[in-house]
Amino acid sequence: MYLGIDLGTSGLRALLTSPVGAPVAVAEAQYSAQHPHPGWSEQDPADWIVALDQAMAQLRDSPGFADIRGIAVAGHMHGAVLLDAADQVLRPCILWNDTRSASEAAELDAMPAVRELSGNIVFPGFTAPKLRWVQRHEPKIFDQVAKVLLPAGFLNLHLTGRHVADLSDSAGTSWLDVGARAWSDRLLEAGHMRRDQMPDLAEGREAVGTLRPDLAQRWGLQPQVVVAAGAGDNAAAACGTGVMAPGQGFVSLGTSGVVLAARDGFHPDPETAVHTFCHALPQRWYQMGVMLSATDCMNWLSRISGQSPAAMTAPFSDGLRPPSEVRFLPYLSGERTPHNSAQLRGGFSGLATASDLQDLTAAVMTGVSFGLRDCLQALRATGATIDHCLAIGGGSASPYWVQLLATVLNQPLQLPLHGEFGAAAGAARLARLAHTGEPVDAVLTGPEIGQTVLPDPAQVAAYENAYQQFRAQVAAELQQS
Ligand code: XUL
Repeated sequence: MYLGIDLGTSGLRALLTSPVGAPVAVAEAQYSAQHPHPGWSEQDPADWIVALDQAMAQLRDSPGFADIRGIAVAGHMHGAVLLDAADQVLRPCILWNDTRSASEAAELDAMPAVRELSGNIVFPGFTAPKLRWVQRHEPKIFDQVAKVLLPAGFLNLHLTGRHVADLSDSAGTSWLDVGARAWSDRLLEAGHMRRDQMPDLAEGREAVGTLRPDLAQRWGLQPQVVVAAGAGDNAAAACGTGVMAPGQGFVSLGTSGVVLAARDGFHPDPETAVHTFCHALPQRWYQMGVMLSATDCMNWLSRISGQSPAAMTAPFSDGLRPPSEVRFLPYLSGERTPHNSAQLRGGFSGLATASDLQDLTAAVMTGVSFGLRDCLQALRATGATIDHCLAIGGGSASPYWVQLLATVLNQPLQLPLHGEFGAAAGAARLARLAHTGEPVDAVLTGPEIGQTVLPDPAQVAAYENAYQQFRAQVAAELQQS
């Protein structure tokens, strides 16, 4: 039996699988992010530990739980957990969607060789600019930093007692030479960091330790449970969906929106604002366009309207509607791909007296879909191809949204038949690989497809037209910001 842990932005999901990867039980525990100032987004790592304990308690009576042989963690990327010399957390973790370090990011991004070595723009959400911000604004804390761990790395420490991080997650720090898959002294120096402040590096499916005996005893597990290095959440989702080789990809409608393509080489193209990261397997990489607020936009509308996202999308069941007059810009936290702007903000336009919540909901789904179309175009500009595109993430549970997205992208989208295909499933597969040493291709297979959603031919042109208007509107906003 294997356990995949998805340390997500809004909660932790723990998936128990059988020895051959079938889902057996799943547990979830929620936590929140704090936003003490506009653009800030933080979490207390202690909340993750509480959530993990809660999830383990929920799973404890599941069949096979006591036979868990391997564990791996997939985490939300880029967050900075700062530890002192006694491994005590020095301040709340600054998350991936925090944009406070925009000027530090721009500074690092302009330094020679930074893009070349890291393969990416230094985005404000990445880890290196966060540390420069802490150095400037919280120098006493900065001086005590003995280790910087990513969220998944922090759970690895909790599980094994080791400071160790996988390469796919570490690629999002701007301290890693992403082509060479190693910490870069030059990048560390640019960010005013030292090599001894970094965790050890490992490939995602490598066994990096065993579960601490006190945790094994507390949770009712055997000693010698193997812990794999794990992965960043998007690389883990690619492992969970078998997205390993060129031509394979997915679009993820999660808190963040992602269009991801697997690559068999390192083909950075930072100008496109596409991310080029190590995959969770040796000698493989992936590229993705990332939008910061995808289902987060729907959650925002849900919060202010008092209706659940399910209730808001319930009226959308009878075929794809034409583009609505109301338009939405999905930039509640600024945007990465393709704009790299921390200043850009969301907005509705085209409102009329008769506009109602249905119009706003349609506009939000459409605006997010347009943002993902931007990501797909940027990805194609790097030379990446997606012949087979899966739709995953919470938003893909809405058949209407998937139909809309297929039409906006003008790309067939495949929906997995059933089961678990997110980051937790990928993590469980990495745990299995670490334990059994099986060949990667035997384990990281694609899901059985339940349905392929085709673009609606009657609406493709209308949505193309609306997308071009959206682009013009965003270009005008960018000029003003
Ligand atoms: C990727 C990114 C997000 C987070 C949260 O670069 O920032 O996808 O990993 O899921």
